[in-house]
Amino acid sequence: MCGIVGYIGTKRAVPILLDGLKKLEYRGYDSAGISTLENNSLSCIKEKGRVDQLKNLVDNENLNGTIGIAHTRWATHGKPNKINSHPHFDNSKRFSVVHNGIIENYTDIKKFLMDNGYQFLSETDTEVIPNLINYYYEINHDFLKAVSLACNDLIGSYAIEVICSNFSNKMIIAKKDSPLVIGIADDGYYIASDIPAILSYTKNFYILEDNEIAELTLNEIKFYKNNLELVHKELETITWDASAIEKNGYDDFMLKEIYEQVTSIRETIGCKLNKSLIELDNIQFTKDFLSNINKIFIVACGTAMHAGLAVKSIFEKLCYIPVEVDMASEFRYRNPLVDNKTLAIFISQSGETADTIQALKLAKSKGATTLAISNVIGSSITREADIYIYTHAGPEIAVASTKAYTAQVVLLNIIALYCAQILETISLDEIELLKKEILSLPTKIELALKDISMVQNIAKKIYNAKDIFFLGRGIDYPVAMEGSLKLKEISYIHSEAYAGGELKHGPIALIEKDFPVIGILTDEKLLEKSISNIQEVISRGAKTIIVTNQELKKDFDYVIKIPNIHPYFSPILSVIPLQLLAYYISKEKGLDVDKPRNLAKSVTVE
Ligand code: F6R
Repeated sequence: MCGIVGYIGTKRAVPILLDGLKKLEYRGYDSAGISTLENNSLSCIKEKGRVDQLKNLVDNENLNGTIGIAHTRWATHGKPNKINSHPHFDNSKRFSVVHNGIIENYTDIKKFLMDNGYQFLSETDTEVIPNLINYYYEINHDFLKAVSLACNDLIGSYAIEVICSNFSNKMIIAKKDSPLVIGIADDGYYIASDIPAILSYTKNFYILEDNEIAELTLNEIKFYKNNLELVHKELETITWDASAIEKNGYDDFMLKEIYEQVTSIRETIGCKLNKSLIELDNIQFTKDFLSNINKIFIVACGTAMHAGLAVKSIFEKLCYIPVEVDMASEFRYRNPLVDNKTLAIFISQSGETADTIQALKLAKSKGATTLAISNVIGSSITREADIYIYTHAGPEIAVASTKAYTAQVVLLNIIALYCAQILETISLDEIELLKKEILSLPTKIELALKDISMVQNIAKKIYNAKDIFFLGRGIDYPVAMEGSLKLKEISYIHSEAYAGGELKHGPIALIEKDFPVIGILTDEKLLEKSISNIQEVISRGAKTIIVTNQELKKDFDYVIKIPNIHPYFSPILSVIPLQLLAYYISKEKGLDVDKPRNLAKSVTVE
């Protein structure tokens, strides 16, 4: 999705802006642009295509301004082309604006402005913003006031940076439902929609809240509410290491992130299991509170939702509370049965997914206690929820989520165990045993990653397949879903995940000679049933690939062994060969693993 970078300080802005845009490439985009301010003159260079192309164009110009705004666009209104890309200007070329988000009432505003003599060049919703600001500026000649009045008229989501040719030492930024942070360094202020874009310059950030505006000059920053009431803000410090956003010798971020799971799981477990009683940073449930909860909702999108599915049955077994897992995009429109006896858990790596945030707002308005799980400090979802807790997976750059998923599954398991401890629904001995199993995960992940030659070999054999099935029963079914999603998104191979028992109710009709079927078999109790399902596809000529921690007597084409673990936690290990398989198949096909087509890292529009 779109990315924003900005700078106001003593250094030349262009290299900082281009560097920030490069770091935001992982979010997915189709065009990029830059605008700088120098001696009351605004320059703008924008183009369809990659940031490297923009850099070539910028290198031919002499842009020396120390104030600038920049943007990567992922088309929503109007096709990806130069005219639609940001920055956008008002008719008098006084204001230059970049914008993330969607202005829902832009047609009304556009009509209003056209009635007042304004003309529009692009098909975007964004172009109304500089023109609306200019409309108000013409009336009151006050830059800050003009931005605040324009923001009050906007319905939808926005994070904007505005510079003005009348003010050679000023930038104004504002946000609602789309993130914006301001980094503080000795040489000036660094602005971005995502911390990784500017992490190499500073670790100290102000995080702009919804309906807030910041006015930045070379040596001062002031925060306001939209009504221009002054706001005091605390500086926040981020502990992420800047090297975490480099590839560190790996060919791709995705591969690096798959290998980082050893550390990301260790960091996510942190000190939570060190004492005899489990302790969670930020969460302090009482027995009274949990006893009153009669339903748990876990709501998320895509991979994050699969993390919810991977712990649903464990939550139910450990806490005796029914758990429903829902896609945020469905939950928010289906009037779910939520009340003050509901605990609603929202999972989002980015913490900015529009559907998940709206689903959270809905659950909150219906009286639920809302708990957000996010990987990004200060992300929108953590600000909306009653309680939040972080996965500590570090920045995830590849579009396909890997280390954030396993961190979510681990954290959800720990939360389930913590709730069971408070509810006293399981014995202390059982808690001890499960804690030990969770603590063994980093070592077992290391083992699972040790020899990957079998996965590489399978990738070479099946990368030309048109369709692939993933099968699993019980705890293995959500893993099949996650393996299938990973494969689809980065290899563009059609694949489906089925619960083993469902196969004969329809999908088996598709099986023919050499059709690859990947079976996940980790639950001893369901082993015979799952093997029968695999047998059914073997009889119809399928090529079988089995991921298992069990000793299997039957013959399959390939068997990938993973370390043994308590069945509750097997999704954290069994997904690893599937992540690797998707990765190596994508490599065999010569695709861009980190930036798959049509996808964005953070889906900030519904
Ligand atoms: C798939 C993937 C997506 C995300 C989904 C939710 O690899 O990354 O399915 O899981 O878009 O994103 P977050 O977790 O940021 O809310």
